[in-house]
Amino acid sequence: MSSIGSFLQAYLRNLQPLVLAQSLADVQEWIRRLGMNNGAGVGCNGDLVRAWLVVRLFRSLGCTAFVETGTYMGATAVLMARALKSPLLSCELSRKRWLIAWLRCSAFTRITVRHEDSRVFLDRLPARIPHSSVPFFYLDAHWESDLPLDGELAIIGRDWPRCVVLIDDFVVPGRPDFGYDVYDGRPLSAERLDLASSFTGGDSLLLYPRYEASQELLGARRGYAVLVRGLSEKLARLNHGIAELLVGETLH
Ligand SMILES: C[S@@+](CC[C@H](N)C(=O)[O-])C[C@H]1O[C@@H](n2cnc3c(N)ncnc32)[C@H](O)[C@@H]1O
Repeated sequence: MSSIGSFLQAYLRNLQPLVLAQSLADVQEWIRRLGMNNGAGVGCNGDLVRAWLVVRLFRSLGCTAFVETGTYMGATAVLMARALKSPLLSCELSRKRWLIAWLRCSAFTRITVRHEDSRVFLDRLPARIPHSSVPFFYLDAHWESDLPLDGELAIIGRDWPRCVVLIDDFVVPGRPDFGYDVYDGRPLSAERLDLASSFTGGDSLLLYPRYEASQELLGARRGYAVLVRGLSEKLARLNHGIAELLVGETLH
């Protein structure tokens, strides 16, 4: 099936089973029933187990806005707009991709897509959502030779004492089955990004997938890390079905 066919098929599917799934087995059963042979254009790189975890973490940790850097064609923004009821903000540097994403997202009044560099976009975020917000950041604007992640993390660390930050294309320690990006010969990892210097204050935990990449039945099986800041009480009460799929590491 073509990427467009795959996207359309996914778009027309009812997402309620994904939103309501209670376990990895439930999500995998739903993915099998989709009958798709690739995840192109579906959102979250087609990694729908990850998409489910994003939705569950967003809701369980009390997040109030989904904030994405690097909209591309808007696949993840649309997927999350369909799965969540909160506002979604996204930014795209390329004018052409921004226009396509803007058109695609215009059916959803809760999505705002800005044609901005991710660092400018994040710098302006406190003026665009309430200060009491608990944003879920989905950092995915790494594509060009200029890697904006250090700047993005420094701005988020400065402005948001309670937040969740997912970094896509990240090394999962000891797990080469998940793909990751390499910049200037150095993989995207906790050591490379020096996360501890942006997220000071001691209440931050870094989570990685504990499941096998092959348990993602459809997508590109990209690695990722999720940093949870200022939400340890809620994190401690995570449903067991989600908690057992993630492994935590304190930032140091
Ligand atoms: C991997 S794609 C994003 C995919 C998208 N998040 C999704 O899940 O469908 C990366 C996108 O980031 C954009 N990008 C690269 N550098 C950027 C920057 N500094 N600010 C905003 N967008 C950027 C690229 O133009 C590209 O469209």
